[in-house]
This record gives sequence, C-alpha cells and structure tokens, in this order.
Amino acid sequence: MMAKVTFIQPDHRRRTVEIENGYTVMQGATANNIAGIKAECGGACSCSTCHCYVETTWFDRLPPVEDEEAGLLEFAWEPKPTSRLTCQLVVTDELDGLILYVPEQQL
Ligand code: FES
Repeated sequence: MMAKVTFIQPDHRRRTVEIENGYTVMQGATANNIAGIKAECGGACSCSTCHCYVETTWFDRLPPVEDEEAGLLEFAWEPKPTSRLTCQLVVTDELDGLILYVPEQQL
C-alpha cells in the first residue's frame, strides 16, 4: 500500500508523491527530489534538516512526538507547534492525504 503525501513549498508550489508503507516520509521526499528536505543525517534523528510543518488538521492524527524528536526540533529552523521531523514519520495507510509545508530553510 502507498500513501499520497503533498509537500507545499514556501512559494506555494505543491507536489504530491506516493510513498510506500514502511518508508519514512523523509525517504519518500528525498527519493522524489522534494526541494528543501535535506535530511543530512540520513534519518538518524540527529540533524533536523528534514523538518516540515504539518498541516493543522493533520497534526493530531500523527503518532506522538517522541522525546528525541522533540529535543532535536528545538534546533530546527523556526520550529512551530506543528513541526515534525519527517524522518520520524513512518508511512501507513493512515497517512494517506498528509499535507506538509516545507520550511523556508533548514538551519
Ligand atoms: S534526517 Fe536528520 S533528523 Fe531527520
């Protein structure tokens, strides 16, 4: 199964990609060359450059933020209450339709 995930850039361009269940949203983004998702640490939850803002109605539907992610998000560029690290979001059917805003910059 796949989930469709939409990335909206700061200039409002949007792209929807399909990501297979079990992969992280970050992996799906980099595999599809989504601009602005750098993922410098390769998904080890240690760089924060895979940061996105989750569309508000989607935020509460995601699995909760673990301590490690919360700690690292403080170092992301302009974190907001809806911030997540996309390498910590594993795709499932429940994420089909997810909408994410790419920050203006990463760090
Ligand atoms: S890819 Fe480095 S924290 Fe997500």
